[in-house]
Amino acid sequence: MRLTVIGTGYLGAVHAACMAEIGHDVLGVDVDEAKIAALAEGRAPFFEPGFPEVLKRNLENGRLRFGTSLAEAGAFGDVHFVCVGTPQRPGSHAADLRYVDAVVGGLAPHLRPGALVVGKSTVPVGTAARLADSVPALAWNPEFLREGFAVEDTLRPDRLVVGVTSAADEDVLRAVYAPILAAGTPWVSTDPATAELVKVAANSFLATKISFINAMAEICEAAGADVTTLAGAIGYDARIGDRFLRAGVGFGGGCLPKDIRAFRHRAAELGLADSVRFLHEVDEINGRRRTRAVDLARELVGGSFAGTSVTVLGATFKPDSDDIRDSPALAVANAIRAEGAQVTVHDPQGIDNARAVYPDLDYSPKAQKACEGAHVVVLATEWAEYRELDPAAVREVVAAPALVDARNALDLPAWQEAGWDVRALGRSL
Ligand code: UDX
Repeated sequence: MRLTVIGTGYLGAVHAACMAEIGHDVLGVDVDEAKIAALAEGRAPFFEPGFPEVLKRNLENGRLRFGTSLAEAGAFGDVHFVCVGTPQRPGSHAADLRYVDAVVGGLAPHLRPGALVVGKSTVPVGTAARLADSVPALAWNPEFLREGFAVEDTLRPDRLVVGVTSAADEDVLRAVYAPILAAGTPWVSTDPATAELVKVAANSFLATKISFINAMAEICEAAGADVTTLAGAIGYDARIGDRFLRAGVGFGGGCLPKDIRAFRHRAAELGLADSVRFLHEVDEINGRRRTRAVDLARELVGGSFAGTSVTVLGATFKPDSDDIRDSPALAVANAIRAEGAQVTVHDPQGIDNARAVYPDLDYSPKAQKACEGAHVVVLATEWAEYRELDPAAVREVVAAPALVDARNALDLPAWQEAGWDVRALGRSL
């Protein structure tokens, strides 16, 4: 089939390459000419394990190409996936739908007869209904990929969810995804409103799970208990499950924070603010963990950051990504810097992105080197390489052996044995 993918950010670029990988002819379209030029040359505009290989392979076999014109997209495709961003509107919690509206409106006059437009962007419930009259056929097909596992999640998703208004549209989408469905992937076919809601409900649940365990971390701190043991113990209950129960400095990134806020905003518009009021609490708990990480570090330097050197290990919102959007690590680094410390940040992939937005922080390309002269080291993103650090060797280079493990990622007894004064979120050590 001939598909277009409009919007080649994280979601769109991976979707385009993976649709080519399963055998379709794909045109990726974006207004950003530099991004399109890079993709067309096989250069990934972001760090994502496995993506460069899929991109190159499908450029070379001729199934994948890129362009910047909606008219070309309309002439090319039978099915058009809309993958543009829906960021948080400045000064509001609402989702900014201008890019979705612009693409659907811009594509409409160029569509071939029988073409299907499929929204993948995360949108407030009701968006598909609002746009239904702008194009002859519209479906919604939310995407659940995680950064760091984007290719895997697209080719082997937990489920495929489509919101359609006709059996014919469902058949088109079944044909698009046939190779993935053949592997036994669950197929959920529903109306567009339910499909839109599945996405925000899933992200709200995940955010709630993280904030739940982080609330338990707050209690554990006061009670002298250990949240990592607690999480493991409740996680053995299959009804709870052990995933997404890692207590730490909380969630960030381009999805969970903005999606739960946009959901609250949309629920309020529907007169149902009370139904998701708990998401306000979820957001508050998440923010408090960042503050708590800063408090623990301040305690370790004797009550004031003025004149101290602080090292923050990690800049990205999670490991195996170069994405720094709403990163807890950088929020912590900036808060500490604002209190007068000189802050050095290390990250295996995120330094270029971080430096572009926060030029006032210092950056170091090597983790141990970043720790030189530090009065406290804060681990804020659990990159695997930090577990390889030798506590004794790092101790040799710091000004004081003080550590905050804000992700509960390290073997803390080993650090204590090497003479480190250690604090962690949700644990008394
Ligand atoms: C998320 C959803 O998982 C995905 O399904 C959706 O499509 C987009 O949003 P992503 O933003 O890539 O994906 O990151 P995810 O792996 O979900 O992590 C989100 C944040 O939660 C990260 O900052 C991570 O560090 C944090 N987190 C995750 C925790 O603090 N504890 C956990 O146990 C799990």
